[in-house]
Amino acid sequence: MKDPSETLSSDAIKNVLDELEAQSSHRIEKVSDNVQLETLRIEYLGRKARLSLVLSSLGSLDKEERGSAGERANRLRRQIEEAIRQKAESLKGSAKKEGVDFTLPGVRRERGVTHPITATIREIARIFETLNFEWVAGREIETEFYNFTALNIPDDHPSRDSFDTFFTQGGNLLRSQTSTVQIRVMEKRKPPLRIIAPGRVYRPDTVDASHSFMFHQIEGLMVDDRTTFADLKGVIHLFLRALFGKDSKIRFRPHFFPFTEPSVEVDVSCFICRAKGCSVCGQKGWLEVMGAGSVDPAVFQAVGYDPKKVQGFAFGLGVERICMLKHGINDIRLFYENDLRFLKQFA
Ligand code: PHE
Repeated sequence: MKDPSETLSSDAIKNVLDELEAQSSHRIEKVSDNVQLETLRIEYLGRKARLSLVLSSLGSLDKEERGSAGERANRLRRQIEEAIRQKAESLKGSAKKEGVDFTLPGVRRERGVTHPITATIREIARIFETLNFEWVAGREIETEFYNFTALNIPDDHPSRDSFDTFFTQGGNLLRSQTSTVQIRVMEKRKPPLRIIAPGRVYRPDTVDASHSFMFHQIEGLMVDDRTTFADLKGVIHLFLRALFGKDSKIRFRPHFFPFTEPSVEVDVSCFICRAKGCSVCGQKGWLEVMGAGSVDPAVFQAVGYDPKKVQGFAFGLGVERICMLKHGINDIRLFYENDLRFLKQFA
């Protein structure tokens, strides 16, 4: 026997159907996991669901009402079943898409490292920064004037030959030394000047373990009305001791550059064998590290300075050479091959 209290009146049936029609598909759509979906499935389709009650109450209605309400209730039931099936399907799909396995180790991000040449330039620049030198940039494509003429390099000098300098078709050239920046800075500014100019230079050398068609130099220039060769020696002492260690000995050998007079080459005592003689210093105990000198009056003239009123010094060094010495690198080509096995050692 059916409990009459479990039988819905015609109005109640209508209310239930109205409400389910208005809300069920929306609520199913909003579900975000299987547990919530199962709760809704029981609420709408379970044995105690109001829709089940509607269906079991149909018998108490008159024939006419029974037909239309029955049709409506059955259609609603199919709609709810279908909505739940689709929702279950889409929940399965999104879980697969995320492919979440929280126990897997994370993906490690590769961290870049500073290239050893960049690191060496920065290390040197920091030392000169403490001496109040300013880092300035030059340009890599230059004219003969800046690379040679203004630097007092005569027209017949062999370095002007195309065997020693890359010329462009338009008559320009790839600078073969950063000394060009001395001219560019002095043309634009008045003394006092204290600058360093790191950058690339180009020479048509055959590539081997110690030569490259491109390498880096750092130029230095100090000019005012009283800078002397003693200042040059003092600055270079401070610099090389900061770079190679405070026990380093420093040696100035007479040399020639067209743009400095007098000119020197600077050696530092070999920090590998402590000047006893090894394969790196060629058993000499000394490492040649830079060229330098007092700025030649002809250079001051070329930039419109009065050589009687200003004096100064300039120096130039090869970054690759210093970096190779400091890290015991025996082949310059390693710097340019982008081999991570090499580069990662500088992390
Ligand atoms: N420019 C010179 C070279 O490339 C180095 C240098 C710079 C020497 C400044 C003296 C003064 O060899």
